[in-house]
Amino acid sequence: MIVLALETSCDETAAAILCEERGLLASEVASQIAIHQTYGGVVPEVASRQHLTQLRPVIEAALAHAGLRMEEIDAVAATAGPGLATSLMIGLSAAKGLALGLHKPFFAINHLEGHLLSPFFRSSELSAIGLVVSGGHTLLVDVEGFGCYRLLGQTRDDAAGEAFDKVGKLLGLPYPGGPVIDKLARTGDPRRFDFPRSMLDSGDFAFSFSGLKTAVRYLIPKLPDRSEATLADVCASFQEAVVDVLVGKTVSAARATARNTVALSGGVSCNSRLRLKMDAACRGAGIELLVADSALCTDNAAMIGWVALHRLARGAFSPLTADIDPNLPLVS
Ligand code: KG4
Ligand code: ZN
Repeated sequence: MIVLALETSCDETAAAILCEERGLLASEVASQIAIHQTYGGVVPEVASRQHLTQLRPVIEAALAHAGLRMEEIDAVAATAGPGLATSLMIGLSAAKGLALGLHKPFFAINHLEGHLLSPFFRSSELSAIGLVVSGGHTLLVDVEGFGCYRLLGQTRDDAAGEAFDKVGKLLGLPYPGGPVIDKLARTGDPRRFDFPRSMLDSGDFAFSFSGLKTAVRYLIPKLPDRSEATLADVCASFQEAVVDVLVGKTVSAARATARNTVALSGGVSCNSRLRLKMDAACRGAGIELLVADSALCTDNAAMIGWVALHRLARGAFSPLTADIDPNLPLVS
């Protein structure tokens, strides 16, 4: 069985083709970053117009890459939420239209479930503590199997990626700040500035990153100079504070639930320091760490198709009346 999956929840227009027997056949992503950079962040109206023009070429590129014709597709899936309403509408409507025209099943997929399961692409076991860290979400989830998720905790304010992007903006860096901070931090001293590790010892699995962002805001006018070295130190120190909290809480959650696997996902899981420190902490605690390839950490349609394949195997189709939900939770 072959699934065509679409993802348009924010500012990436993506299409992927997956086969039950042969895995991922194609994954195409048209990034809008260069367009939104001019505005310092994602402009929803601009994003939806870009999805309209990009979606068809992206689907055609995925079909060409997989060497398939549209008639050979057995099911169509798209992200239904969470995300920007006007962006979600484009992909979901297109997927419904294709499913209707092809007389094939349709799947409305949760974007967070896509991220959560993306580290399991090459694993048959679906049992782990999942940390989803993206621009919109920071979630710790106890994964007991496909569709069996228990939310352990989430952020009370900014998501981890949002904190990276807001701090990037405060430092005058281009959007999105996350990858730029990651790069600059490589030459910086993570111990030079002592930023708060908010809620690290709160005894629960909730997160808070807005205080850390405010601490950076207050530090900036007091910096001794504006040299590249000082900027690198601010980036490294800020990043270290985020990473320490993410790693500390995730390992505590694995211990509390006696899970011996951690699955790290979402755009922030591209972060080199997070990967390094999560890997070291998991090794030290005898926990296996699963992380998706970098291309499958930021928004993509392969993760949406992967969830759809699981649903296909269970015959759990969605009705064509399924609608978008910009606030769709992972666990209702
Ligand atoms: O998963 P994603 O593509 O979109 C959402 O679902 O939000 O995540 C995007 C987020 C942005 O906030 C971006 O700055 C962050 O992931 N990000 C990173 C890195 N690469 C992407 N944050 C820190 N370090 C990185 N290397
Ligand atoms: Zn995402």
